Amino acid sequence: MTKIEKIVLSYSGGLDTSIILKWLQETYGCEVVTFTADLGQGEELKPARTKAEMSGVKDIRIVDLREEFVRDFVFPMLRANALYEGQYLLGSSIARPLIAKHLVGIAREVSADAVAHGATGKGNDQLRFELAVNALDPSIKVIAPWRQWNIRSRMQLLEYAEKHHIPVPSDKRGEAPFSIDANLLHTSTEGKILENPAEVAPDHVCQRTVDPVDAPDTPEIITIGFESGDPVSVNGKAMTPVALLTELNRLGSRHGVGRLDLVENRFIGMKSRGIYETPGGTILLAAHRGIESITLDRAAAHLKDEIMPRYAELIYNGFWFAPERDMLQALIDHSQAFVSGEVTLRLYKGSASVISRASPCSLYSADLVTFEESAITFDHHDAEGFIRLNGLRLRSLAARNGR
Ligand code: ARG
Repeated sequence: MTKIEKIVLSYSGGLDTSIILKWLQETYGCEVVTFTADLGQGEELKPARTKAEMSGVKDIRIVDLREEFVRDFVFPMLRANALYEGQYLLGSSIARPLIAKHLVGIAREVSADAVAHGATGKGNDQLRFELAVNALDPSIKVIAPWRQWNIRSRMQLLEYAEKHHIPVPSDKRGEAPFSIDANLLHTSTEGKILENPAEVAPDHVCQRTVDPVDAPDTPEIITIGFESGDPVSVNGKAMTPVALLTELNRLGSRHGVGRLDLVENRFIGMKSRGIYETPGGTILLAAHRGIESITLDRAAAHLKDEIMPRYAELIYNGFWFAPERDMLQALIDHSQAFVSGEVTLRLYKGSASVISRASPCSLYSADLVTFEESAITFDHHDAEGFIRLNGLRLRSLAARNGR
């Protein structure tokens, strides 16, 4: 084993990463720098500093990445209408490359030769972290304690904490907690009773959105403005990416929008069941599709829809910094030049439905589509020929098959 001199740890300040911090200090006998990213997870970040200080960390980095997260990761992904396996808005998947990028940045700045993370050996997150580090700086080593140490259970983890005087909050003592990951885009919950997909998720699992059953009986009408594929305003008020997503999260969670109970296929091979809450993201997806419906050409829109599952899978599997993701992103971004205008939605008991859309760049022509008399010359005979030619091979087939 080559000697490691300095490690940058992705550190939340929670029990697991506190134990990892101690383990790294003991195992490698070197300086550990902690990096805590503020991604809008809604947790106090001060305890992360205090705990790191108590563990003797000299260099403590707590960085607000919210704006970069929404502007450079969430919005580009939304331009693609990305959904993994048709349903998952990729809230955890999209945060990892950003964290990895900053881990690498700090590692270079402080001349660390390794970065460390607290993702386990069974999940997707280890892939997302490590593939990103590989792409950004292959000279940096990655330490994944969950794959290296001898701790094999929650009990052993708590024993280790006790032995090393790491305070274990009383609520963490008994049963293992849910595995929760939260940021401005979503909250995901996995583990415990949820591991049985036949079991209905208990009510208390969702903490970010109200149950649609308990949502207000009066619908709420909201308007979202778009410019070149990105949302820029809510109800006529211009907002920064963070302010906008925060506001849509507030509106969506009031109306129970964006809950998902999903069994998905992990990249590593197994199926897993999770509960997701993505209130603002769910509204934005519906709104973005709404504005695209009048501003995108048919073939452009269909091509986007064809590549979307591929693009979503790249993000899910951890290939954000891979050339094929860049290539697809260029295609997607190119398509968005005229995706501007306003979409009005109705939020009501768990749903976010588009009820109107308007754009100065609209391709929609009421005059062309109307059932009434039209000013634009549309020769109905053209449609007759169009059908006749499209039906040519079908008539040949039917004649042969003797239908
Ligand atoms: N299954 C989801 C994904 O792979 C969520 C993972 C969340 N991570 C966690 N530590 N709970 O994107």
